Amino acid sequence: MSDAPASWSKLTDDLERVLYTREQIQTRVNELGAMIAADYANRSPMVIGILKGAVMFFADLTRAIPASISIDFIATSSYGSNDVTSGVVRILKDLDRPIDDRHVLLVEDIVDSGLTLSYLVRMLRARHPASIRIAALLDKPSRRKTPLQADYIGFSIDDLFVVGYGLDFDQRYRNLPMIGVLKPACYQKLGGEES
Ligand code: IMP
Repeated sequence: MSDAPASWSKLTDDLERVLYTREQIQTRVNELGAMIAADYANRSPMVIGILKGAVMFFADLTRAIPASISIDFIATSSYGSNDVTSGVVRILKDLDRPIDDRHVLLVEDIVDSGLTLSYLVRMLRARHPASIRIAALLDKPSRRKTPLQADYIGFSIDDLFVVGYGLDFDQRYRNLPMIGVLKPACYQKLGGEES
């Protein structure tokens, strides 16, 4: 350990630019929390975080919803490289509790092709929840391969590969407090599984 002041430059040097600062994200997440609290007045939704990418958004969003909620997590993995989703979704960790007759709010980091969420929504609908809605911090509408509309969206972005605030490349950068565009030089075509 050293006494040197903490700096994010080891990670931010890999960014082409910062898209959203920690403060901009916090402001938007608080707005979404207030909207969700108003929409779910008198209901106690089950807020489900999709691991691992949504973990930061989930932690901040749930604390911005001043209402009675319960929480659970589901972990998915899609086959293929990090920047291309194959649409084949594997459940690595299922929900701990049943959701029948519950109002479900799925919390995702980013909607890209839409394949992961449309698979999950289909799977969860078969468990007969009272309703399912989606909150996504980021949306890339131009990348959609299947019709999928989130109910709450933090920011709509162009076709860019972004990291930070939970979003990774090869499991790195998730802990960055801001969201940035990764420099193309940092890309490697990796196979394997991502979530
Ligand atoms: P979809 O099934 O194509 O909508 O993919 C959604 C998942 O792909 C997200 O939950 C992320 O894990 C990953 N993903 C999509 N775009 C990005 C990105 O720009 N940065 C990091 N991960 C991404």
